[in-house]
Amino acid sequence: MTSRTDLSDLPLAEQAALGSGADFWTTEAIGPVPALTLTDGPHGVRRQTGTTDHLGLAGSEPATCFPPAVGLANSWDPGLARRVGEALGREARALGVDVLLGPGVNIKRDPRGGRNFEYYSEDPLLTGRLGAAWVEGVQSTGVGASLKHFAANNAEHDRMRASSDIDPRPLREIYLRAFSHIVRTARPWTVMCSYNRINGVSAAQNRWLLTDLLRGEWGFDGVVVSDWGAVVDRPASVAAGLDLAMPGGPGAGDDRVVAAVESGTLDEAEVTAAATNVARLAERVHASRTRAGAGPSGAGAAATTPEQESAGARSAGSGVSGELAETHHRLAREVAGRCVVLLQNDRDLLPLTPGRRIAVIGAFATEPRYQGGGSSHVTATRVDAPLDMIRALAGDTVSYHPGFTVAPGEADASALREEAVSAARDAEVAVVFLGVAADQESEGFDRDHLELPAEQVDLLTAVAREQPDTVVVLAHGGVLRLDPVARLAPSVLDGTLLGQAGGGALADVLFGVVNPSGRLAETVPVRLQDTPAYLNFPGENSHVRYGEGLYIGYRWYDARNLDVCYPFGHGLSYTTFGYSELSAEPAGDGFTVRLTVTNTGTRPGREVVQIYTGVPDSMVQRPVRVLAGTAITGELAPGVSERVSIDVPRDDLAYWETRIEQWVLEPGTYRIWAGASSRDLRAETDIHLVGEALRVPITIDSTLGEAMADPRAAAALSAVFGEMAATMGGGDALGVDMMRMIASIPLNRLALFGMAPEQLDALLTAANTDGPDSRSK
Ligand code: BGC
Repeated sequence: MTSRTDLSDLPLAEQAALGSGADFWTTEAIGPVPALTLTDGPHGVRRQTGTTDHLGLAGSEPATCFPPAVGLANSWDPGLARRVGEALGREARALGVDVLLGPGVNIKRDPRGGRNFEYYSEDPLLTGRLGAAWVEGVQSTGVGASLKHFAANNAEHDRMRASSDIDPRPLREIYLRAFSHIVRTARPWTVMCSYNRINGVSAAQNRWLLTDLLRGEWGFDGVVVSDWGAVVDRPASVAAGLDLAMPGGPGAGDDRVVAAVESGTLDEAEVTAAATNVARLAERVHASRTRAGAGPSGAGAAATTPEQESAGARSAGSGVSGELAETHHRLAREVAGRCVVLLQNDRDLLPLTPGRRIAVIGAFATEPRYQGGGSSHVTATRVDAPLDMIRALAGDTVSYHPGFTVAPGEADASALREEAVSAARDAEVAVVFLGVAADQESEGFDRDHLELPAEQVDLLTAVAREQPDTVVVLAHGGVLRLDPVARLAPSVLDGTLLGQAGGGALADVLFGVVNPSGRLAETVPVRLQDTPAYLNFPGENSHVRYGEGLYIGYRWYDARNLDVCYPFGHGLSYTTFGYSELSAEPAGDGFTVRLTVTNTGTRPGREVVQIYTGVPDSMVQRPVRVLAGTAITGELAPGVSERVSIDVPRDDLAYWETRIEQWVLEPGTYRIWAGASSRDLRAETDIHLVGEALRVPITIDSTLGEAMADPRAAAALSAVFGEMAATMGGGDALGVDMMRMIASIPLNRLALFGMAPEQLDALLTAANTDGPDSRSK
């Protein structure tokens, strides 16, 4: 062997063993290749040193619990996601972890999706930008990321068998788009294939997905790791391009891989390729740490070898503590503050003034709901309760009343309610913490409704009746039906899940220490029945038909012109912003948008600018508008303006043309909107893009209409069949547009109208011969 990654001399059995784990979280150390430790992810390091499991059941070492993806996404801020990634990377190294299993970038297709709290958005562009920044942050520390769950894993129900049955355009334009962006721009060291099937083929055995697309089209050069337990037929997975089957152990099928090679059903080169990818990952971990010149705890420490770090990993056992824990807790609070969304604020009830008599109501004020259940569940280094943090800012004018119990039925509900209502009446303002209990939202199952518990809505109704100045603070992982809350409370803060420092962040926003700048990464619908996949979720008999196609999230509500409770991108501030001087000019193969944002209110604040595009005269089906770019201003003082500039490259404008199986930038006029949400569009302009010529080959199955729309085919048609064309144009006498009538007749039926086979051949040859006059669609 000449290097750590030249495995040509390694016996087949050992190569096969490199392709599966040694145990639950580590890979095999074989020959020149050291063992690697992989661990969840994504919003904290779940390092298990005792009992191991992949469902978050057993404990793990204390680590910082940052806002889960549902919260982080509401910041809309890739810069923040990158900083979180860097912090996670530092903790992973401190805990001896080489690969952190995240980010989860599946699209939130349906608000009932049980794992939506672990995913970013209903929009692929926002998901891709945040996921890429997170990966860059983690990997800058010498820890690999694992982009998951590849692909189309958008529900928990039957997740290990169900087939996501998706047409090519939504598959490419919605479900694969963020994966593609992240693989190409952030180059994750590993990608985790999902449990489900895609159009009938299991992701773990899907050669098109794992090899042709991921490596061939996107240039992925890392390790494809299975989700834990996703591999059923290991030789078939190896043949498809899966490098590492996890977890390891006797059931991982190394022997079956060897037997398949020996019996000639699996090419040995595929086994070597998988083992080599694992060896290269180990090399990558080593090289990046040597380059960084930093040990596990950060800058300045001596470089370590993977062998040393693995040894350290096995003895790691104290979790994240000391200065690192303190620094990261502060970061977690700063990040969480940027993830809070101010949904409404009638009469400018917020921010609160310290000194007012405040009744804090709701059990979530003392038992915060800050993360979801399952494999991502982190043992936090500490947890800030909102009540304590509010008291720290507001002093002794704050009283607390649980109002309900997190687990229903644990106490006398009406007594708790009465006590809270009377406190609300006596106070000057009520702050009511409502939400969904942790056991209601977890990996492994979906929700079947979007409702807050009835007793919480009853409580809010009674409180709001007595206290007009009522603020609601929400904690939940998946979207809720918020109509009742919106009608009852003048001010609503959406905390979703904010991680261990969320309590402090909420206090900061309530009292205006932080001016909220969070924006919804998901639409809040009026009713579950309005949602795009309502009739196709979670599927039946292990098939999920993605019948809504491209129309997911706001794409659906806008196309159907449906009212929503709060639109995608919505979020208020304690100040106001004006948008002006919108312009767009061509740049590269896309365009650059510029606009001026001015703080027109009275408090400093930052604005999240959203750029949407649409193609009003498109030749293909398209949503009314889609998110094409975002920018976040700095913290602007009142009266101050910032000129922001947003690049919209071709890749974010192109659609997937199924007839030629390629991305195409359609020529024509693109409308550009700048908005504060998908339904608060403040300025618009148009730009013309030359786009790309589309030549769809004319075949005998093409219709006359398609042939006539193609200049070469049309010329050939009229030259060869001038007479026939003249007849076709003679529909006036019948009072019909003859061409429209016959447009759908395929060329292969022209024999019926007297066309000889050789004439048809000549037509097809002329139509498909390349020349200078290629047409644009
Ligand atoms: C989850 C993955 C996770 C893995 C390891 C699986 O059940 O789907 O997201 O990384 O377990 O815990």
